[in-house]
Amino acid sequence: MEEGRRGSIIDVFSTASAVGKTLIGINMAAELSSQGYDVCLADVDLQFGDICNYLHLMPERTIADAARAVKEAPESFDAREFLDVYRCDDISFSVLAAPIRLDEAYNIEATSVQNILQNLQFNFDFVVVDTTSAFSEINLMVMDMSTIITFLGIVDFIPTIKNMKIGCDTIRGLGYEDSKIRLVLNRSNSQTKIELGDVEKLLGDHFYHVLPNDFEAARDSIMTGVPLVHTRNTALAGAMRELVARYTNQAVEQVPEKRGGGVSSWLGRFFN
Ligand SMILES: Nc1ncnc2c1ncn2[C@@H]1O[C@H](COP(=O)(O)OP(=O)(O)OP(=O)(O)O)[C@@H](O)[C@H]1O
Ligand SMILES: [Mg+2]
Repeated sequence: MEEGRRGSIIDVFSTASAVGKTLIGINMAAELSSQGYDVCLADVDLQFGDICNYLHLMPERTIADAARAVKEAPESFDAREFLDVYRCDDISFSVLAAPIRLDEAYNIEATSVQNILQNLQFNFDFVVVDTTSAFSEINLMVMDMSTIITFLGIVDFIPTIKNMKIGCDTIRGLGYEDSKIRLVLNRSNSQTKIELGDVEKLLGDHFYHVLPNDFEAARDSIMTGVPLVHTRNTALAGAMRELVARYTNQAVEQVPEKRGGGVSSWLGRFFN
């Protein structure tokens, strides 16, 4: 039986690509670390993870190595052996990198990711998980394990909104506490003729938090490899900090966790 702390998992999810999951996951990790928490940022976008690109890291070991190790010797597994560290002034957090090759990504099982994340929870205050835009077995497992699901949305085109609606209804159907799901709007002031109020009516919920569009700040952060909460005092950085402050005031120990039955049950909940 493992002992020690049991960190919170913050899932960053969306039902469309390029909504800002990676950028926001990185900035959550950076802000949490500058608040003094021990943080690990896990790249569970196994095939096309971008965290190391965005942070200019060259990892020696990845989640693929961790997945092999946890399968071979679960008892002696220590996820800390597979992490890289991102440092910039007062910011310092660990990174579990995505696999280098697609075939490695393909072979990682959901149970291995689950065991890795559980191990990380015992070693960090917060584990921020960057995911993909799909209701896959792995993403459903991450949702089950999470303290908070940051469901990122963007209001640009009708199909994106339609998919957000499907995603919202689906996550609600999983039976979590309402407070576990935080609907966050990204790129809020990007040009669109779609009314926010109409979108919220359709989704049946208000956005918990709103992040503005700031192309320059986002681009500079990716080009320099420095999280934007650190470098610039922009509206986007301010809104990111505010979101994290709201999470840290409310997240720890307050959102009851719902445990799934096993890997087969995650997808089974949809298809039974
Ligand atoms: N608030 C914002 N303002 C301006 N640009 C943003 C904002 N959020 C994200 N972006 C930009 O949008 C692009 C996509 O962001 P990101 O890679 O984080 O999305 P993602 O959801 O992780 O994508 P994927 O589904 O491919 O993993 C990036 O170029 C990023 O800089
Ligand atoms: Mg991404």
